[in-house]
Amino acid sequence: PSILVLNGPNLNLLGTRQPEVYGRTTLSMIESSCRKKASALGFGLEFMQSNHEGVLIDTMHAARGVHDGMVLNAGALTHTSVALRDAISSVELPLVEVHLSNIHAREAFRHVSHIAPVALGQICGFGPLGYLLALEALAGHFEEAHA
Ligand code: DQA
Repeated sequence: PSILVLNGPNLNLLGTRQPEVYGRTTLSMIESSCRKKASALGFGLEFMQSNHEGVLIDTMHAARGVHDGMVLNAGALTHTSVALRDAISSVELPLVEVHLSNIHAREAFRHVSHIAPVALGQICGFGPLGYLLALEALAGHFEEAHA
């Protein structure tokens, strides 16, 4: 199976962006650990980041017939984007939602996720480990589907 990992706005700044909230790990370090985990699980992996909602949507559309599942940290678009949510519903690939921080322990506007209702599940509050847990969750999902 092949997995698309998508990262939304401002996640390119990880490492220097509000380290007290998001830690010191850069997105390229997260990409490396995802690649290690993916190969251990026997997954192919595409890893991308964009600050542009439309680019994230286009990338999801292109995943149809190419990838088998998705991991999404939509950043602030989580709380605002009906279009991104509709894209997930449209492509019908299993998706795990990830956030580095515990969005439920933060400002009220971060408590609502437009992604969660169309995701297999949500992982938040575990920092970069969340991406690896999301890959494990997809592995478990595929196993169940093929059982
Ligand atoms: C985030 C949480 C969002 O509320 C925020 O807008 C982000 C990062 C996280 O990974 O904790 O950009 O998705």
